[in-house]
Amino acid sequence: MTDEPKKNMEVTPWKVSGDIDYDKLMVQFGVQSMNDEIADKLAKHAGFKHLQLRRGVYLSHRDTDWWIKEYEKGNKVGLYTGRGPSGHVHLGHLLPWFFCKYLQDAFDADLYFQMTDDEKFLHRDDLTLEAAVALTYENALDVIACGLDPEKTHIFSDADHIQHLYKLGLKVAKRTTFSTVRAVFGFKNSDNIGAIWHPALQMMVCFLQSEREGKNIPCLIPAAIDQDPYWRITRDIAEKMGYYKPAQIHAKFLPGLAEGGKMSASQPDTAIFTTDPPKEAGKKVMRAYTGGRDTVEEQRKLGGRPEVCNVYAYYYFLFEDDDQRLVEREVSCKSGEILCGHCKTDLAVRIEVFLTDFQEKREAAREVLDQFIIKPVE
Ligand code: TRP
Repeated sequence: MTDEPKKNMEVTPWKVSGDIDYDKLMVQFGVQSMNDEIADKLAKHAGFKHLQLRRGVYLSHRDTDWWIKEYEKGNKVGLYTGRGPSGHVHLGHLLPWFFCKYLQDAFDADLYFQMTDDEKFLHRDDLTLEAAVALTYENALDVIACGLDPEKTHIFSDADHIQHLYKLGLKVAKRTTFSTVRAVFGFKNSDNIGAIWHPALQMMVCFLQSEREGKNIPCLIPAAIDQDPYWRITRDIAEKMGYYKPAQIHAKFLPGLAEGGKMSASQPDTAIFTTDPPKEAGKKVMRAYTGGRDTVEEQRKLGGRPEVCNVYAYYYFLFEDDDQRLVEREVSCKSGEILCGHCKTDLAVRIEVFLTDFQEKREAAREVLDQFIIKPVE
């Protein structure tokens, strides 16, 4: 089975489609594979091993071991991640943000959170700048609802908070040639020059905390692997600019509810949005792709296939923290003891409970949003 060609995998910062072959991506992107030592060290500092570390959500990294060592030497460390606000947030987006919260608590780290409303406006024909900026603040509610610390989290819109970014952005832009971004991102002559400039802004955040605090602070970026091209070229210029190379820890994509690929906002039926009415979300789960067989008889006889089941993937990545219970579910699925309806109903309930709670936190975030927005350096 493993030799079967994957379906047209495409992974760029703007498009992720087809069957994702992570091994191939790791080679293509030249990143290190994640290992137990790193996961255990993160867990040691956090006091517990996060579900995402236990389940291999982070499959590759660059220099995360170095970032941890710097912390162990008593140095301050920082975090950076971001979001392109082009619509509502879905569960797949939340995975790295929950992980940022875990790392923020464990390493007492500031998190710089970039909202690339400029990027979304520049890359899409169906989004006005005003709409993209408005989505920044809507999506920020989701970020805050993940439980981040207002004292240590700095959310910013590229468009609204450019005064905090522009000077450092210029310095990065001056070091970055058109031929580099063309080779890495595939820009064409017909692309608008805003899109060509934007990488400088996404890159500069790697150095933003160092610049603001006037000392070098190791930066770790938890993000899905499609964003990697930015960090590759940032690493090439970092030392020349007097900064550390940014470290990365790469997450897998959460699958959508349909077969294959990742959860995608452009296929709303297959994604669970944080703003979905909980009952609606539950209905989407009931229509999800599973690893079930064609008939009940067949499934009782042959068992289900959790390894290709998206419903199982949701338990695995998010909704079943208890390792023992997860194994029990897998075993009873494979033996044909439980059927897909059982897992779906169970998951629908869990998602409804989760969303009800998350949506309360999200609404409460409106009151404190301002505390999370980047402030001028004192
Ligand atoms: N370009 C990203 C997107 O479209 C948003 C982003 C900006 C980001 N900075 C980041 C994502 C850092 C991860 C890490 O979603």
